[in-house]
Parts: sequence; C-alpha cells; structure tokens
Amino acid sequence: MSRHLIAPSILTADFLHLAEAIQMVNQSEADLLHLDIMDGHFVPNLTFGFPIIRQIKSVSEKPLDVHLMITNPDRYLEDYGDAGADWLTVHLETCPHLHRTIHRIRDLGMKPAVSLNPHTDVTLLKYVLKDLDMVLIMTVDPGWGAQKFIDASFEKIRALKQMINDSGSSTLIQVDGGVGEHNIRDLLRAGVDVFVVGNTIFSSDNPLQTISNLKNASK
Ligand code: DX5
Ligand code: ZN
Repeated sequence: MSRHLIAPSILTADFLHLAEAIQMVNQSEADLLHLDIMDGHFVPNLTFGFPIIRQIKSVSEKPLDVHLMITNPDRYLEDYGDAGADWLTVHLETCPHLHRTIHRIRDLGMKPAVSLNPHTDVTLLKYVLKDLDMVLIMTVDPGWGAQKFIDASFEKIRALKQMINDSGSSTLIQVDGGVGEHNIRDLLRAGVDVFVVGNTIFSSDNPLQTISNLKNASK
C-alpha cells in the first residue's frame, strides 16, 4: 500500500453548507484540507480571505494546506500563519526572492511549499529543493476547479522526482487540478506523494467513499 496523502480542495464545495463539507472531510480518510486563495490578479478568479480561513481552522480536524494564487504573497505570510495555515504554498512566478520567502514561511512555523504553473520549468527549483517540504506541480492552469488534467505534467513530475532523488532530499511532490480515480495510479507510479482533489470529491454522490478510493489506490 502506498503512503500517499489526499488533500480535498473545497473550491467546488457548496459554500452555503461549508461546515458540512468540512465535517465530511474530518470524518474521511483525507490527510489535509486544501484551501485555494485567489486574488483576481495572479489568476483571473477570486476566492476568500482571512476571516473565512480562521473559521475553517476552528472546525477542521485536518491540517490546512493553503495554496496562494496571489501576487506579492510576501506581504501576507504572517497573516496566513495567524489565520491557521499549517502548510503554505507560494507560486514561484510571484516570488522574486524565493529563497527568502521559503525561509520566512518556515520561521513563521509553517511548512513551505512552492507551486509551478504548467509552463514553468522544474529545474528553476534546483537550488532551493532541499529547503522545501513540498513542490506543487499545477496540472491545470490555476484559476478554477473541474478543469482537464494537462498530460505534459507527467514529464515534469518524472523530472522533479529525479531531481529530488539526486539531491537526497525528502521533498514531497503534490499535484493539483484534474486529478481523480482515472489517473491517480499513473500519478503514483510517476512519483506523486500528495493529491489535491476538488471536483471529483465534491461532485460525488458519496464523497467519503470517493476519498477512501483515492486513499486506497495503489500503484
Ligand atoms: C485550481 C485550484 C485547485 C482546484 C482543483 O486553481 O488550485 O485546487 O480546486 O480542483 P479539481 O480537482 O476540481 O480540478
Ligand atoms: Zn489548489
């Protein structure tokens, strides 16, 4: 059995019944709760801010995996920590001083991760790989849930896995976008450790069972 992690994304949950969605995740075999933060600048869409993250934190029994799709994330790192982020992911495309940003996230008591858009080369992370707890390979263009998985992601995942092995680091590989029961085994074989899954879970008639199927998928 593989020891991969499942991180449900509430982006496509019913926000009029958000507490029920989080209770469902609490009762499930999921490992993390993934929150997508969008600012209408780095990505065309907007989501939610600190008061909602704090409220989610107060009821979530799973660690919060906060994915920042915002310009100038450095300005808000402390606020995300205060709001309850356990893992904090910034996009490489938004960080001119990425090394400093990563270390600041760790100093604030969170686990640092960096995300790459589909066109961004994984080799750009070579000199910071050992400083990271996780790398997020976007497998769709960020902005919305329920998009189609980009197949070229497999080549990137394999290249990143090779870099991690070569560096001797224990950095995890996460994927986000278009992930479900149809492709999780291929992604496991390519070396993915952490799976963000939104639409597949929240459009399911039986989300608990869907999470269980994803968690118990093996190579
Ligand atoms: C996309 C977000 C994702 C999204 C994934 O910009 O980062 O986390 O919710 O959703 P699905 O699984 O629906 O493709
Ligand atoms: Zn995300």
